[in-house]
Amino acid sequence: MNLRSSFFRITFLVLILGITGFSQVAAQSKPILRMGSLNTVSFDQGWSFARYGLQPDGTRKAEPEAMEAPAYHDAAWQKLQLPHDWAITGPFRIELDGSTGKLPWKGIGWYRKHFNVHLTDAGKQIFVDFDGAMANAKIWLNGKYVGTWPYGYTSFRMDLTPYILAGKENVLAVRLDTENWDSRWYPGAGIYRHVWLVKTNAVHVDHWGTSITTPEITDQKAAVNIAVTVSNQSKKNLNAIVRTTLFELDANNKPGRKVAAMKDAFVALKAGQNTVAESRVNVSNPKRWNIETPNRYVAQTNVIVSGKIIDTYHTPFGIRTIEFTARNGFLLNGKRLEIQGTCNHHDLGALGAAMNLSALTRQLKMLKEMGCNSLRTSHNPPAPELLELADKMGFLVWDEAFDAWKKGKRKNDYNKLFDEWHDKDLTALIRRDRNHPSVFIWSIGNEVMEQQDVKLTKHLVDIMHREDPTRPVSNGYNDPDGGRNSGAAVALDIMGVNYFFNQQPKWDADPRYANKPTLGSETSSCVTSRGEYFFGGVEYKNWQISSYDYAKPGWGCSPDEQFRTNAKYPHLLGEYVWTGFDYLGEPTPYNSDETNLLNFRTDPNKQAELEKQLKLIAEKSPPSRSSYFGIIDIAGFKKDRFYSYQSHWRPDFPVAHIFPHWNWAERIDSITPVHVYTSGDEAELFLNGKSLGRKTKIAGQDFRLIWDQVKYTPGELKVVCYKNGKQWATDVVKTTAEMAKLTLSPDRPTIKANEDEFCFITLKVTDKNGLMVPRSNPDIHFSVEGAGEIVATDNGDATSFVSFQSHDRPAFNGMVLVIVKAKHGAKGTVTVKAMSNGLTAATTRIQVQ
Ligand code: GAL
Repeated sequence: MNLRSSFFRITFLVLILGITGFSQVAAQSKPILRMGSLNTVSFDQGWSFARYGLQPDGTRKAEPEAMEAPAYHDAAWQKLQLPHDWAITGPFRIELDGSTGKLPWKGIGWYRKHFNVHLTDAGKQIFVDFDGAMANAKIWLNGKYVGTWPYGYTSFRMDLTPYILAGKENVLAVRLDTENWDSRWYPGAGIYRHVWLVKTNAVHVDHWGTSITTPEITDQKAAVNIAVTVSNQSKKNLNAIVRTTLFELDANNKPGRKVAAMKDAFVALKAGQNTVAESRVNVSNPKRWNIETPNRYVAQTNVIVSGKIIDTYHTPFGIRTIEFTARNGFLLNGKRLEIQGTCNHHDLGALGAAMNLSALTRQLKMLKEMGCNSLRTSHNPPAPELLELADKMGFLVWDEAFDAWKKGKRKNDYNKLFDEWHDKDLTALIRRDRNHPSVFIWSIGNEVMEQQDVKLTKHLVDIMHREDPTRPVSNGYNDPDGGRNSGAAVALDIMGVNYFFNQQPKWDADPRYANKPTLGSETSSCVTSRGEYFFGGVEYKNWQISSYDYAKPGWGCSPDEQFRTNAKYPHLLGEYVWTGFDYLGEPTPYNSDETNLLNFRTDPNKQAELEKQLKLIAEKSPPSRSSYFGIIDIAGFKKDRFYSYQSHWRPDFPVAHIFPHWNWAERIDSITPVHVYTSGDEAELFLNGKSLGRKTKIAGQDFRLIWDQVKYTPGELKVVCYKNGKQWATDVVKTTAEMAKLTLSPDRPTIKANEDEFCFITLKVTDKNGLMVPRSNPDIHFSVEGAGEIVATDNGDATSFVSFQSHDRPAFNGMVLVIVKAKHGAKGTVTVKAMSNGLTAATTRIQVQ
């Protein structure tokens, strides 16, 4: 052991032991649960739920009076554990709005939780922290009204202290109302994120009370500043020491080596007031946070009064520099990094809006594999876990507040809340998220109606700068010329352009914008259905969309076209593709959502044309209930487009991908174009061993290679790709035999016996040789035995009305997803079986730890 570091360890140990005894040291080596006070515990278990107002079948159920009263009889209510989305159980109803997923999410939801507070907690401050509740939350404790937070995406704290009964049972009641909320996508409904109980002393670090900045960073040292807001809720004026120590933080959230002790801050705390204590220290040889090696640190802040530690607060953070330029793009730690981002909504497909760490991790792993390096939280504050994962996995985050300001896009969207709540919601967003190294841009909006409003834009930007002077502020414009012409965009640090890049040279020459870094805040919007291919110029059929990756709404373009456009403007920061994953709702083009007209607000002819199309679609009552925009489908299965982005975004990773599949019995001798995505620059295609010629990409022009005169003959298609003259990657697609058997592939061998970890099992319908049969849609029945249960199934079909909880589901183009979790408290083996008439069944086993 290095003597110097052992000296520090021992000194540190002595210091801590001297003050607190052994328990603090033990806590020290445990993983950090989350940013906040040490005394934070999950409050997800043991809730009761009842639904009033609009019911799943469209009828209404009257809401009884006084359900907040402790004595209210809730024994018959549904017992559940949070997070919970009351609408994901459906049923899908054709007459419901496709934009919000054709799910019955509108209603009034009541949650109640009985809990005991120990007598020793008398005099403590007791808070309940909601990561998000959809929507219009009202909270009571023991029948007393505690407070409200209407915007369903904001995390908020309720102070229970005045009404807590120590040594007795307490009843917390939450009323949510989604009837008075409107959305352009599926918002979910319920307490759909985690809830926490926090107990502190009267003197404690305030909610989100730490702000860490790193004003100077070199390879030799980083200056780290911390501002700690200490709340003194006691009746006495007190003196306190605020002592912060910095440690390395590993990927499992475990603090490691101590790297620095900040200078103690001595503060006089006035009774009933907040006081800010600031400290600064230099960290030697800082390990930078970046997207390949996302090094993190944690600040442990102790508040010490009369020699005793009375609060311990953890703040994970990272050390990195961000720089945005108008001429040379974005620089992370001084190095140019093109933003290769995706926009994503918050739902997790078959799980609805209910937050689940393993489902979100699965999504982000796929995006990482594709070469995505940034996430746009469209169009609202994300779950805190998304930012924690982004910090750990190395994604930059465009952290967004709103889809509407004062003027709504729908009757009841943020317009109703704006005046009273915008400052509070923006402040909450920044205070919660400001210490995450992944967060690099704040966004005040998306395609808001007031894009030309100079005063309002400036007002919102000023709030963001007031709360965080270290990060730039942007706004996503679908009328960028209007926003710039009016001068509204002058207030922004970064110009966000959705789709419309063609005027860029003009703005580069305009003195008001010449120095404004610009980013493609939304791009492409290509639409496809996994495994569907149509020929002869047909893009749309049977409410599905051809996967040749050309289909798009009037404002969008194919990925190839977008790459070409990006190449024209290399000085821009990069792009956010709409979207990484298919999501519930907004099934454009089978969507009669009139807010789409907003994309053509400057072109009356296009607007009229789209209006006509929307009316026609509405008359046909499309069954589509989820989007087609995803590069990956809603079940988490890759579409062909995945390999387009992977080829472009990871040029050094060998990619070869042939499409379509090669099962076209009805097309013998018909022209069936073959396309190849590759990160190589040349490729030769073979059909049944015979060369169909070698094709070369023109750099900056071609983002796929096309053999458009191939006559279909069953057999084997093989592509051999080259890069700089050397063989680089190959892919093979074969005509399969009849479907014969099922296979099941779990994404992990073991799961933990908790609600956070699910296993995602992919079912494939294969022929006798084990090749997936691409156009097979047999009905599958799933069953489960042992220590687990089925949470949901899905197949990626945007038109399916089969309930996500069903154990029976047809395959969609050869695939089904089944999601399994451990039964509460169970250990042992989970056995999952899949069966289908006439096919050999499949079984797989997972261990619960
Ligand atoms: C954008 C909008 C997104 C989504 C997308 C679909 O204009 O910002 O929320 O609607 O269009 O292409």
